[in-house]
Amino acid sequence: MSDPGTSPGRPPRSVRVSGWGSYVPERVLSNADLERIVDTSDEWIRTRTGISERRVAAPHETTATLGAIAAKRAIATAGLDPDDIDLIVVATLTPDYPMPSTAALVKEAIGNHTAAAFDIGAACSGFVFAYATADSYVRSGMARNVLVVGAELLTRFLDFEDRGTCILFGDGAGAVVLSASDEEGGGMTGVELTTDPDGAYMIWLPSGGSKSPPSNETTRRGEHFIRMEGRETYRYATRTLAASALAAIEKAGWTPDQVDLFIPHQANVRIIEAVAKGLKLPMDKMFVNIDKYGNTSAASVGIALDEAVREGRIKPGDKLVFVAFGAGFTSGAIALTWTADPADSSRSESVDPVASVRAPLDWASVDPIPPRLAAVLNDPGGPPVPLDDVVPGEPEPAHTEEQP
Ligand code: ACO
Repeated sequence: MSDPGTSPGRPPRSVRVSGWGSYVPERVLSNADLERIVDTSDEWIRTRTGISERRVAAPHETTATLGAIAAKRAIATAGLDPDDIDLIVVATLTPDYPMPSTAALVKEAIGNHTAAAFDIGAACSGFVFAYATADSYVRSGMARNVLVVGAELLTRFLDFEDRGTCILFGDGAGAVVLSASDEEGGGMTGVELTTDPDGAYMIWLPSGGSKSPPSNETTRRGEHFIRMEGRETYRYATRTLAASALAAIEKAGWTPDQVDLFIPHQANVRIIEAVAKGLKLPMDKMFVNIDKYGNTSAASVGIALDEAVREGRIKPGDKLVFVAFGAGFTSGAIALTWTADPADSSRSESVDPVASVRAPLDWASVDPIPPRLAAVLNDPGGPPVPLDDVVPGEPEPAHTEEQP
């Protein structure tokens, strides 16, 4: 069993990570697959971003089901039952619906009957913002065990004609449980969260909200897909990430060289290299797995943490820094001392990678996979998908018999 913690209402001596877990869908989308959809190359994507492949959710999967599997693994790792969780915080920019919250659906999918549940919107910084929020709840005594989930299903919000964005993102989920502890020390000792609205339109999804509600016109204009000013975002990220990390490190009373491992948001390996350079640290202090999953936004730090523990990169007493940036612009960093036994990872091995969420019986969603992506997934190794072959929102062109 995990540390018994404290009674609700009494602030604990410390707040610690007691559980961790992640889930990525089975289906791999390689750079070669993307070469069939947009004018790009495996070489360009690997050298400019570090990405070799990313995962794509199956049609029956949603952000909530991805998050629920990661959550069940984190709860199992913590040695807890779902009903031991008294708050669920989900960070996502790709919710199942604008309402209800994805957190409410995750609560149902994990079989929890006790927790309050809400979503957090801080884009790619979402996991760090959610972690800081959860820590505050436990630290104040308002909750004992908080489930933090970062989950994204980005491939359904990508314009597969825009090579500047569709090559970057992938689907997945990561989760941790933060628990009250009566032991001294450990857990978060430094935090830095920032939001700079000057970058509000550098990464955005124009339509579907109150400013521009969904309509045939917004669909025709392609305004339900992520848009990004890549160069500006890159400049902001390289400026901000090292500064945020340093602020959290200083608040913890550490120096950068004392940190054992950084778990940075996986947006671009060149951005991670810039953080290492900015902090005058070698790259082996940075955990990198962007090659396998691309940018999974709010899920990336949680997925990376789970992999780092499983790969033996983290041990009790290690000083860690989570650091992320994203749309908003948001940025955040957390300095924490790890206390859990990495061997607890094995407790989640019996968790099946399945989860389901109810939908009304008299309602069925449309086919959720974007047509150009479906064309590649349904015909592995096939020819390039011509630009005008499949137009989102319109029926495929009728094939006429050739005249002799
Ligand atoms: N394949 C081939 N060529 C491409 C591609 C592609 N997929 N994409 C762009 N190019 C071309 C451009 O058209 C340009 O060509 P030109 O010189 O003829 O005009 C050239 O490559 C260079 O383009 P840049 O945009 O300058 O490329 P850069 O090296 O900056 O890389 C990238 C682009 C990868 C998007 C980079 O800017 C980046 O990583 N930005 C940050 C994105 C990010 O981190 N977002 C995370 C936050 S997301 C969130 O919160 C949801």
